[in-house]
Amino acid sequence: MNEIISHEGPAIEEFDELTVMINELACQINENKLAPDEIQNLINKCESLKDQKSIMGHILTKPHGYAGDFHIIDRIYTKEVSSKFPKWDKYSISIPSAKAVRNRKSYFKRKVSQSLKQGGNLLNLASGPARDLYELYNENPQLEIATTCVEMDEKAIMYAKILNKPHLDKIAFIKKNIFRFNTENKFDIIWSAGLFDYFDDKAFVMLIKRLKEWVKDDGEIIIGNFNENYNPNRAYMEFFGDWYLNHRSEEQLYDLAKQAGYDEAKISIGREPENVNLFLHLRK
Ligand SMILES: C[S@@+](CC[C@H](N)C(=O)[O-])C[C@H]1O[C@@H](n2cnc3c(N)ncnc32)[C@H](O)[C@@H]1O
Repeated sequence: MNEIISHEGPAIEEFDELTVMINELACQINENKLAPDEIQNLINKCESLKDQKSIMGHILTKPHGYAGDFHIIDRIYTKEVSSKFPKWDKYSISIPSAKAVRNRKSYFKRKVSQSLKQGGNLLNLASGPARDLYELYNENPQLEIATTCVEMDEKAIMYAKILNKPHLDKIAFIKKNIFRFNTENKFDIIWSAGLFDYFDDKAFVMLIKRLKEWVKDDGEIIIGNFNENYNPNRAYMEFFGDWYLNHRSEEQLYDLAKQAGYDEAKISIGREPENVNLFLHLRK
């Protein structure tokens, strides 16, 4: 590990080895065989982790005040590698958890373009950079979908509006914490990725109960959540990025949906090709 740090990041052929090393370090800490200080020493040696220009440095230093902001998510989507830390950034965008984030955008586009071929309305909770919408509308100019985005970070909304300039006639942004949002409208699809894994189970259940009021009788709710049973980069995110998410298994997602009053027959689970992100599908 020290050698990789002294070489300013891993070479491509060292990527898998680095992932194994990081997971081994995390195991040793969890089993109290290694003091957490050892990780801090490694972090202190990594210049990239102190600098927002690197992807992991951005995640760790949280320039917008929270992990997983619109800017870093968009850098993962667009595979933006800094010229200052190319080796570290290439690693950060190529790992399964980053691929899963890109895959969830494809999952969204496929699902929405197929289900709403004839048009309809979409509620997008915590829209972040809204690159998923930008690509959806660009790739399907014939789609007649009206989207409402609820997002609490004003800067994320500004960024998303600039990106989506050609499609603003179809997208409305509401700046609101989702827990304070309410609407009389009913939607064909309610989509949320990268939000519910920040919530504890109580908040998760409370919110999916409310979503039932906002979805049409034949509509669908889709919630993304990192997979408790598979994320080979969880230790990298947590130890090196201070990015803690509530990972959940398929069974846990089923259970939370049942706690919120959804009938078992109306619950299903999807996954993206990396199996790092799961999608809870709910119908009324
Ligand atoms: C990880 S990003 C996900 C963005 C987008 N859904 C995507 O997948 O590309 C998380 C976003 O959730 C927003 N967010 C977090 N908590 C929220 C809340 N309680 N209400 C509304 N937005 C929230 C953040 O501001 C941020 O833009």
